[in-house]
Amino acid sequence: MPQYFDNVSLPSEVQKLSIHIGEVSLELYSDRGVFSKNKLDFGTRVLLEHIPLSEIHGKVLDVGCGYGPIGLYFAKATDCEVTMCDVNKRAIHLAKRNAKENRLSVSVIESNCYEAISSVYDVIVTNPPIRAGKKVVYEILMGAREHLTKEGCLFCVIHKDQGAKSTISDLEKVYNVSVLEKNKGFFVIKCTNR
Ligand SMILES: C[S@@+](CC[C@H](N)C(=O)[O-])C[C@H]1O[C@@H](n2cnc3c(N)ncnc32)[C@H](O)[C@@H]1O
Repeated sequence: MPQYFDNVSLPSEVQKLSIHIGEVSLELYSDRGVFSKNKLDFGTRVLLEHIPLSEIHGKVLDVGCGYGPIGLYFAKATDCEVTMCDVNKRAIHLAKRNAKENRLSVSVIESNCYEAISSVYDVIVTNPPIRAGKKVVYEILMGAREHLTKEGCLFCVIHKDQGAKSTISDLEKVYNVSVLEKNKGFFVIKCTNR
């Protein structure tokens, strides 16, 4: 799982991706050692296409930002204050570069889950790192409660083969949960505080 670790020593092979989601276009650099380096991940696309932009407001946190498609999409599509974080140093470098390339003002923070995150957010969005294991995924999904405002919302995407249904059952123990979309096995999930 090189994309989840400190991989700055991995030989670089930067490529530029042109990404279009609805009306929004982004030019994003990706590289070896980061998630979905060759194209926008389909799960991420389904997530972004099914979160109503009207529900994205105030302070937004993209957890596990990779090279930045989620946070940068919201930075371009809304006037929100966007923060992005990831544990992967190369992802952090790319997310910063991509923000600059697309002239978007965001904060990009290296962080293991929420370790370096001290603020609270109106919206947290994540395509969680399934391959990092359930403990990390649950730390991100359940840990969001500590970083959401009272009225805040968590949006995430999980595939049915990656435990979407059992994760939804566990999320329902602590959040109000609704499924916004199911597409080719990907569940787009919205969680709010009870
Ligand atoms: C499924 S990828 C999503 C990447 C990006 N948001 C996208 O949609 O293309 C999950 C991301 O979580 C990051 N990640 C893995 N473990 C993490 C951790 N403990 N804390 C924060 N981020 C982590 C990975 O480096 C990866 O970039």
